[in-house]
Amino acid sequence: VKEKLLSQIIKVRRATPHFQGKPVPDKDLRKIVEAGRLAPSGYNLQPWRFIVVQEKEQKNKLQKAVMNQPKVGEASVVIVACGVPDAWKEGDLDEMLELARKNGYGDSKEHEITRKKVEGSLGSKPGEAGGLKPDIGLWVNRHVMIAFTHMMLMAEAMGYDTAPMEGFYEDKVRDVLKIPENVRVVAVLTIGKLKGKDKPYAGRFELSKIIFSESWGKGY
Ligand SMILES: Cc1cc2nc3c(=O)[nH]c(=O)nc-3n(C[C@H](O)[C@H](O)[C@H](O)COP(=O)(O)O)c2cc1C
Repeated sequence: VKEKLLSQIIKVRRATPHFQGKPVPDKDLRKIVEAGRLAPSGYNLQPWRFIVVQEKEQKNKLQKAVMNQPKVGEASVVIVACGVPDAWKEGDLDEMLELARKNGYGDSKEHEITRKKVEGSLGSKPGEAGGLKPDIGLWVNRHVMIAFTHMMLMAEAMGYDTAPMEGFYEDKVRDVLKIPENVRVVAVLTIGKLKGKDKPYAGRFELSKIIFSESWGKGY
């Protein structure tokens, strides 16, 4: 099938109210998750992990953790987007630099500078001074939602319908999917084909309200 144009998707995409639930072919699903894999992240640290749920029983269990929202049980695929605040310390920084080396990106001197910068800004040792000490929940969310959105838009481009979800109990989702405690559950993406009528467009704030020019509050 011909992919939809991004400009079209952005205009017509709705948060799908109900799904038919027919399975998504493996090669389509791969293309969707691949779009997430290719997303950008700060220092290319890729602090995301995604759980792809397709089995009926697992979806039903997950639905309970997602405030019993029926779309989770109905959808063909449910992707649970997670962020791992400490992944960079636990091997991802090394692996990312090794990947860069293999791809001919930068040299070893530059890689060591990057390592120092990451350790400095994300704080390699607890309590170490000098780091930016980012709000780590905000930090993982920032990255995970870009990959999540890549997947959502790719699914839409391929003719699927999607619904993003935040209405879940993080602990319960962790329990059902055996997600470790130090991993944040950021959002849930349901994918499938629309059943029944789509949700109407509810409107958006005007540009003049949400876009500023040069500094906060100045009209664009
Ligand atoms: C991150 C995120 C979380 C959301 N969580 C839920 C949810 O838990 N349940 C739900 O029914 N809709 C959820 N929505 C859908 C929004 O209500 C919907 O996107 C919004 O009303 C705008 O409608 P539209 O997407 O159809 O344009 C969520 C949307 C986003 C982006």
